[in-house]
Amino acid sequence: MPTRKKIGLIGAGNIGGELARLCANEELGDVFLYDIPAKENFAKGKALDLEQNGSVLAYDSNIRGTSSWADLEGADVLIITAGVPRKPGQSRDDLVAINLPIIRDVANSAKKVCPNAFVIVISNPLDAMVYEYKRVVGAPKGLVAGMAGVLDSARFQLFLAREANVSVKDVRAMVLGGHGDDMVPVLSMTTINGVPASALIAKDKLDKIIDRTRKGGGEIVNLMGTSAYYAPASSAVAMAKAYLRDEKRLLPCAAYLDGEYGYKDLFMGVPCVIGGKGVERIVEVSLTEEEKGMLAKSAKSVQAVVDICKKG
Ligand code: LAC
Repeated sequence: MPTRKKIGLIGAGNIGGELARLCANEELGDVFLYDIPAKENFAKGKALDLEQNGSVLAYDSNIRGTSSWADLEGADVLIITAGVPRKPGQSRDDLVAINLPIIRDVANSAKKVCPNAFVIVISNPLDAMVYEYKRVVGAPKGLVAGMAGVLDSARFQLFLAREANVSVKDVRAMVLGGHGDDMVPVLSMTTINGVPASALIAKDKLDKIIDRTRKGGGEIVNLMGTSAYYAPASSAVAMAKAYLRDEKRLLPCAAYLDGEYGYKDLFMGVPCVIGGKGVERIVEVSLTEEEKGMLAKSAKSVQAVVDICKKG
């Protein structure tokens, strides 16, 4: 008898709730919404609300709130948002001291109950947190990925679509590198249904869009006082779905680099194929000299935060 897939969501905050809603709505599996004991009732309440939502929207997923790692036993997918989000004026890197012990705790628990899960990390600073998770768990590189590129590319695509006055459905873009202010929107891979974006948008406008994309998360933090959650959750669910349904989607994700693009022992955003085996491969494309330079700068920033984790 085939059983339903089990999806563990670590952190029942804004992104966690939206992740649960999307996973249930798409009937990707049964959902366990985990938070620490002090927030257990909150997680349970959110889960119950979302289950009741199922009888309006007609989905059958079970959704449970919990503060017990035992409930995550054998989870197929784990999506981690544990930690604190940014406040106005903070960079993602400012969160390292608070979120490092949290990701270590999560990794130590996950290692015991679901060592074979496909794990998607969202907690910031993203590239360092996903590195630390893999280091603590010792998981195979294909089973751990960070969610950033899908979100950063979505932001880039939206701004391009609005500027060119075309449907966002027709814009294809890749944002690579670290999930920080020096991320790399790759213009050579950016088209509007095959038409180079630079043919439809003037250079000065493109430069402004690139700048806005790089600060896209911060723009929302400044408006709301906390991090974005709808687009981040959809982006992680796209990755989870690609794994659960073996879709073999080519998505920009923070993946473990072992020489690809010239980097070793580092997580950073690169084009990946995600299918039933997790990150099945990293696709290496040729970048312009300028893009390579931007990637090197971004890698340096990521490495600096990883070095803090290694010392801490
Ligand atoms: C953002 C957070 C999720 O970029 O990192 O909105």
